[in-house]
Amino acid sequence: MRIPTVTVTDTPAGEVEADVVLVGVHEDGDGLALTPPARMIDEAMDGSLSRFLADVAFEPKPGRVRTVASGGAVRARLVGAVGLGPAGDISVDVLRRSAAGAARSARKQGRVSMALADFGGDRRVETQAVIEGALLGSYTFDQYRSEPDAPRTTELVIVGGDSDAAARGRVLSEAAVLARDLANTPAGELPPRELAARALDMAEEGLDAEIWDLARIREERLGGLLAVSAGSVEEPRLIRLTYRPDGPARGHVALVGKGITFDSGGLSIKTAEGMETMKTDMSGAAAVLAATRAIAMLKPDVVVTTVVPSTENMPGGGAVKPGDVFRARNGKSVEILNTDAEGRLVLADGLSLAAEHEPDAMIDVATLTGACVVALGPRYGGLFSNDDDLAARVEAAATAAGEPVWRMPLVQEYRRMLDSEVADMKNIGQRHAGAITAGLFLSEFVADRPWVHLDIAGPARAERTDGWTVKGATGFATRTLVEMVDSFAAGTR
Ligand code: BES
Ligand code: ZN
Ligand code: ZN
Repeated sequence: MRIPTVTVTDTPAGEVEADVVLVGVHEDGDGLALTPPARMIDEAMDGSLSRFLADVAFEPKPGRVRTVASGGAVRARLVGAVGLGPAGDISVDVLRRSAAGAARSARKQGRVSMALADFGGDRRVETQAVIEGALLGSYTFDQYRSEPDAPRTTELVIVGGDSDAAARGRVLSEAAVLARDLANTPAGELPPRELAARALDMAEEGLDAEIWDLARIREERLGGLLAVSAGSVEEPRLIRLTYRPDGPARGHVALVGKGITFDSGGLSIKTAEGMETMKTDMSGAAAVLAATRAIAMLKPDVVVTTVVPSTENMPGGGAVKPGDVFRARNGKSVEILNTDAEGRLVLADGLSLAAEHEPDAMIDVATLTGACVVALGPRYGGLFSNDDDLAARVEAAATAAGEPVWRMPLVQEYRRMLDSEVADMKNIGQRHAGAITAGLFLSEFVADRPWVHLDIAGPARAERTDGWTVKGATGFATRTLVEMVDSFAAGTR
């Protein structure tokens, strides 16, 4: 999707040339409390905005909007009142949600201005959240429709916003949009070689890229990636992007993303319904690639190595069979008992490779288990870690990004559930604790480096439009990764 340009201005909201000006309104007991920009516009309109809102019994819940013609009293054709919920309770999440609703309601207007009132918080954080909400909340993926939803907003003006934060908000939103576009693209159009080609395109801006083809993947002994790809006519790819700061680096972070461009389950085949959304099984890859691009634009003082093992998981004549054993990059042997537990097999090699670069921290992102969705539902990602400091750092970044995660335990007693009759481990546990045994499996490949695993099987997709998410791929974890790398650079939490 093309996203609007973003500018900031100190011109009063009523004097900004626009198709629509959006201003905030709070709940105040049974009545409404206008924010200062809304009050200013209401005064210019001789009170007709507040009379209109009273007439229609506007309830200013976060994200609700009512629009009225300005009648020429201000420089915008339309005035939209945006609900902000109760006064005095303006969290960054509420701002992001309200901006998303506001931008969706105004999506057919070309030039949209949003007035940021003084909510008493950090103006930069608020500016960034409003832009993220607006740009992500009005996202559409309509390139396959004969009649796209046009015209669309081309310019967003933030009245009273911070300009550095606006630029940052746009970079982060653009990255999340890129991740959504990749994950929403049909699997038939985005096999591993195409995902690799898109990663190469991204690398034009300040990144080194290396792509391994099948022959190289064999040479490098990526046994997990080879096993999963065996049933597909499409060749696997191993994608590696590297970002290096111009000056001295304050650390090195490795990002690893699950890049299954379609998960049919393989011979342990899924049901028809179970594979309906499996073109999005590369959402982890999309998040790490898009985040890496944003990092190359924001230029923090941290080296970032991004590794994406990518393949289809298909039940072809050459497919890997339950009972087959392979040796992963790090030398450990794995018995595959269920070919649908394929993400951990490709991540085994991805994490092993990343660990060889000796990073200070490793984060993998994967739509890994249905069990994690059972545990946490569609909104929360599962966070697993062998390092409390790193876990806290990633949690803080996720909270800042409004991409909530919940830490889950890596219960060492459950490691025996992965004991195999014939190999070092098998690729599935028992019925219970499926997200944890998947995490324990991955922990065998991190070479004791500080590591976080994000299981995003739930929040990678939204089943309905709500807040900054739109039905379909969400780009979840993209912004968390960028915030996390930045906090690493700043040495802050
Ligand atoms: N890609 C799926 C996990 C998934 C499920 C993502 C639902 C998004 C929504 C993964 O490869 C998978 O199939 N996992 C199996 C593992 C099981 C066989 C141990 C699962 O969760 O059922
Ligand atoms: Zn699977
Ligand atoms: Zn999968």
